[in-house]
Amino acid sequence: MRGLSGKRIILTGGASGIGRATALRLAEEGCIVGIFDLNEAGAVETAASCAGGQAMAFTVDIADRAQVTAAMETFERERGPTDGLANIAGWDTPVAFLDTDDAFWEKVIRINLHGPMMMHHVVVRGMAQRGSGRVVNVASDAGRVGSSGESVYSACKGGIIAFTKTLARELARKGVTLNALCPGPTDTPLFENFTTGTGIGEALARAIPLRRIGQPGDYTGMIAFLLSDDAAYMTGQTISVSGGLTMV
Ligand SMILES: NC(=O)c1ccc[n+]([C@@H]2O[C@H](COP(=O)([O-])OP(=O)(O)OC[C@H]3O[C@@H](n4cnc5c(N)ncnc54)[C@H](O)[C@@H]3O)[C@@H](O)[C@H]2O)c1
Repeated sequence: MRGLSGKRIILTGGASGIGRATALRLAEEGCIVGIFDLNEAGAVETAASCAGGQAMAFTVDIADRAQVTAAMETFERERGPTDGLANIAGWDTPVAFLDTDDAFWEKVIRINLHGPMMMHHVVVRGMAQRGSGRVVNVASDAGRVGSSGESVYSACKGGIIAFTKTLARELARKGVTLNALCPGPTDTPLFENFTTGTGIGEALARAIPLRRIGQPGDYTGMIAFLLSDDAAYMTGQTISVSGGLTMV
């Protein structure tokens, strides 16, 4: 990818799944990666596995302003100003909407909507001041076409898509681009919550035109592209990478 090597990228959710695979790919492309995740051991392991020896791990709850600010300040003091942000952390478990309660709503919204908004509020401010930056928000096709058992999560992911478009409009003149990526069903610990012992995984694989569930590595090229100079003329877009399951 053009203009990616040497970029400093803050990435959330790097301890596991799509975030981990993305951290490794970005490091392979020559990026200096700051991994923000609640899972300290996982984040440290990913950072240690990144090529180049410059990745840093931070134990951060992405919805906590003080933790996000402290981690960003340390990353920028040690490695320099942030060029790109990839919001990948997320969480859900399947529950029919009528069986959910306020505490569940608060948890899902905190991780999937409040957290990414906090990351933008803290990290993107500097990009706007410096006049350049790239953001990739990992949403979900649940936010475009819905997903049974994922009502609150779908609301958050739809919210992130709308938020990405709005901020893309607000910040275009400051040189900051934002795009959203929607993965389809993907073989990660999050997806295991939905599928263990249910047969849903096999049924979904049959419904996907490309005939398989996604793997974390299926998204890393698109994320790297959206963070690179090759994507300089692209902002406010939502891209599904889902083996053809959704063709929006
Ligand atoms: N797996 C799928 O089928 C699928 C489908 C569509 C979209 N997605 C999205 O892809 C992204 C990555 O999901 P994944 O499947 O790789 O999940 P995963 O469970 O493997 O990884 C999620 C990571 O987010 C971290 N995290 C959760 N809450 C956090 C918080 N408050 N602060 C910091 N870190 C936190 C976890 O510790 C974990 O390391 C999520 O945004 C998810 O919604 C996943």
